Amino acid sequence: MTTLDILQFPDPRLRTKAAEVTVFDDGLRQLVEDMYETMYAANGVGLAATQVNVHKQVLVADMSEERDQRMALVNPRIVARQGEQVYQEGCLSFPGIYADVTRALAVVVEAQDVDGQPVRLELEGPLAVCIQHEMDHLAGKVFVDHLSGLKRSILLKRLEKQRKAATA
Ligand code: NI
Repeated sequence: MTTLDILQFPDPRLRTKAAEVTVFDDGLRQLVEDMYETMYAANGVGLAATQVNVHKQVLVADMSEERDQRMALVNPRIVARQGEQVYQEGCLSFPGIYADVTRALAVVVEAQDVDGQPVRLELEGPLAVCIQHEMDHLAGKVFVDHLSGLKRSILLKRLEKQRKAATA
């Protein structure tokens, strides 16, 4: 397994729209294993292939305390959404930055597993947030896109300051 480099905002490659996966082979399985490794090493709860500069519709997530509830989705689609929730989100492409984002409370997701088998999931609460956040990445979006201009500019200034401090 390999730990992959995570693209950092504002890297323009984070704006790439991921392509549908049509081949379910060892390369895909390896990508998913490497994405888990990368996510766990970074203490993240979710990771989209976009963030490791692979522009395919693949995401992994694990929101469990024990870090033992892996979920890998290929070609995910939200087919139903309900309600609203506000949740404080972070992102491995924005280290140290957190913001409240409003998203659907519950979603029904249709996707495929790494073998190409169809899966249908009914998710709510934090896991629904996580999957919506990762699916945004696959569409070239990031969580701060959901914020007002003012909130976003405050956060991005903070991100810049932290980066300067880290490299000083
Ligand atoms: Ni993210």
